[in-house]
Formats: sequence, structure tokens, C-alpha cells
Amino acid sequence: MNLLSDELIVEKSVIDSASGERCFSDNSMNTSIADDFADGLIEPTAMPLHGGDIYSASVRYGIPAPQWLDLSTGLNPESYPLPQLDAAAFQRLPYLNPDFIAAAAHYYGNDQLMPCNGSQLIIQALPQCLEQEYLPPGVQEKLPVLLPEYGYQEHRDHWQRHGNPIRTYPAFDSGAAVATVEAAIDQGDPFHLVVINPNNPTGLCFTPQQLKNWAERMPGGGYLVVDEAFIDLEPTQSVLANHFCDNMLVLRSFGKFFGLAGIRLGFVFAQAELRNALQQHTGIWMVNGPAQSLATRALLDSEWQYSAQHRIRDCAAHTRQLFSALFDRIKPLMQVHTPLFSSYQIDRKEAYRLHHHFASQGILLRVIELDGQTSLLRIGISSAADDQQSERLREAVASYVG
Ligand SMILES: Cc1ncc(COP(=O)(O)O)c(C=O)c1O
Repeated sequence: MNLLSDELIVEKSVIDSASGERCFSDNSMNTSIADDFADGLIEPTAMPLHGGDIYSASVRYGIPAPQWLDLSTGLNPESYPLPQLDAAAFQRLPYLNPDFIAAAAHYYGNDQLMPCNGSQLIIQALPQCLEQEYLPPGVQEKLPVLLPEYGYQEHRDHWQRHGNPIRTYPAFDSGAAVATVEAAIDQGDPFHLVVINPNNPTGLCFTPQQLKNWAERMPGGGYLVVDEAFIDLEPTQSVLANHFCDNMLVLRSFGKFFGLAGIRLGFVFAQAELRNALQQHTGIWMVNGPAQSLATRALLDSEWQYSAQHRIRDCAAHTRQLFSALFDRIKPLMQVHTPLFSSYQIDRKEAYRLHHHFASQGILLRVIELDGQTSLLRIGISSAADDQQSERLREAVASYVG
């Protein structure tokens, strides 16, 4: 990803060398970049494809990495406290510890699981695994995949790269989304359905009853992939405990609710044969020892989980309040609020201007392209307990609003 953005940046610096602007460390260049993004002179793909890339931001804006306030992701800013870990967790080869597996089965309410080095890994492996193992008899072609029009783009990218035909359903309006999925099921041809529940960044969500109903009615050979990366804040909406079906594959991401994305941990839930196929694909020792030890504690720590549910909501309300003067003025076309992020649909140029304004002050937001005219500005949550960060945000908002 960074290579792609670096390539484009290099290309841009060559173009600009005629006007004497060569690098990204001076402010005049930064302003020019923001204008060029807004004017469409630089393709939006030059922006990092994922949130949280403070190293690229640091190079681009000349602000040292530790000084960034990163609101470009949807991670809990008050992460699970790091315990002292047993040295054996670092010293032994990381075979799967039964205590770790039991803790995960307890937390997720389902034991048909396989841990992995982040759910991203499974998103990458899935198209090939499903094709190898599960093409229904007589079906030669790669099955079409029905995905949300907007959503965590790695899903779409990997199915597309694998050559599966891509169809989309609306990602904002749940009535329209349901109608599109129903029509695809009624048509009777097999397809895979991908649901990000709730959707990042649009917030679209479906009930577990709805998802089970679709899984049961999907034409044979098709899988329902449910990405529950952000569902920990609404655990009763998960399909895992009471609405799981044999033709479902469910992804959970440990890093978001527990605020520990750096340990790279996720889980996939599927029937045993498909888990085996994924295991063959991804290999052994996927989850390192320290990650297993830390997660075993976190997954069983219901007291911390309970208070985190409340603190995350407090942080979300606090962050929304800090940005309220800005969005009272800009008046987004639409806004979506989830506990771990808010998305605002605004004019595309204004989105890039805002991104640049905040980034110039070491605050990283995320712009997500929509229709060419408007974009989503996605803002993660900031700790309500951190007065210094709150003051930085207040000042950055005030200096834009004027
Ligand atoms: C919706 C969604 N699914 C999956 C992932 C991958 O997360 P991880 O690999 O950390 O589990 C992300 C990352 O941001 C995401 O937003």
C-alpha cells in the first residue's frame, strides 16, 4: 500500500520539480498537495488505503510519528491494560494454547473457530479457499460475489483480484440493500454474499435473524461471509451465539474493541472443513505467544469489557462534541455515528481540505471516496480522559471554523 502511495508521491514530485517544489517537508508543498487532492490532480489512491498510517503522514507533513493524534481508525483509544507476561509466551513456539481457544470460544459464544494473525489474512485467503473446496458440482465459473457498494475495501479487492464477478448492494439505505439481496436470492443462481456488520464506514447493519434467514435461503454453493470487526459494542447483534449456519463464515477482529491492533489477532468461525482449508492456506504458528497470553486474559476479563463498553460510548460522545462546531457549520449531507467512529458525508474538496487542515496539526482523519462529488470524512474516537488531546482537537476545530 505504502509503495503505491510512495510511487504516486514520487511521480507528483517529478511533475512539480518544474515549479521548484520537490518534497513534502515544507508547508507550501503540503498546501499544494491538499489543493491537488481536492482538484483531482492527484488521484485519491495516493492517500493511504488504510487508516492508522502515521509513518506516511509523518513523512508527508514533517511531523514526527509520536506526535500524531490518530483518529483515522476505529480503535478503542483506551486499550486493554498490558499485563506482565510469562517469559514462556515469548520463548516457546506458539502452538495454540487450549486456554486461549477456550477463552475465545467463551467470549464469542461459538467454538467453531480458528485464530489468525488478524482477520485481514482470512479476507485475503478466502476467495481461493472457497473456490478450491466449495464450487458446487457442475459449476465451473468463479461464483459472483455480492458486496456492499462501500465498505472495508479489502473484501472487494481480493474477490476482484481472484477473478470473481463483483455485484454490489446499496451500503447506506438498509431497505434498498435488503431488496437487492432478496432479489439475488430469489433469482436462484449461486453467489457469495459479503456483509460487513456494522459496515465500516457507512454504519449499515442487519439483524442476526435477517442474516440467518439469508444464509438458509441462499442458493446451494454460496457462502454468507459476515465481517463482525466492529460488533463487540453490540454483542447481541452477532450471529455467532444463536444464528450461526453451516454456510456462514464469520470474521472477528480482536484489535478494535480491545484497542490492540498491533498484536495482530483475529478469529474466523466456519464449519470444520472450511477451517481446515483456511488452515492449510495460512500455515502454522499464526498467532504468536504474547498475543495468545494477552488475549486469553482480555477475553475472560468481563469486568474490563463491561467498563470499556461505557467508556467507549463516553469517548464517542466527547469526540462528537469536540467536532460539533465544525459540523454545525459544514452541515453534512448525511452522518453516521457508531461507538468507534463517525462518518460525515460532505463535499469532496472540503473533505480533503479538512483532512489537510487537521493533518497539518498532527491530527490524522480519514477521507473515503464516494461518488466523485462527495466523500466521507471518517473520524475515530479520542479519549475523554486525555485533556491535552481534547485541547488540541478544540483548537484545530476552532482554527478551521474561524
Ligand atoms: C471491517 C473490517 N474488517 C476487517 C478488518 C481487518 O482487521 P484485522 O486484520 O486487524 O482483524 C478491518 C480493519 O480495519 C475492518 O475495518
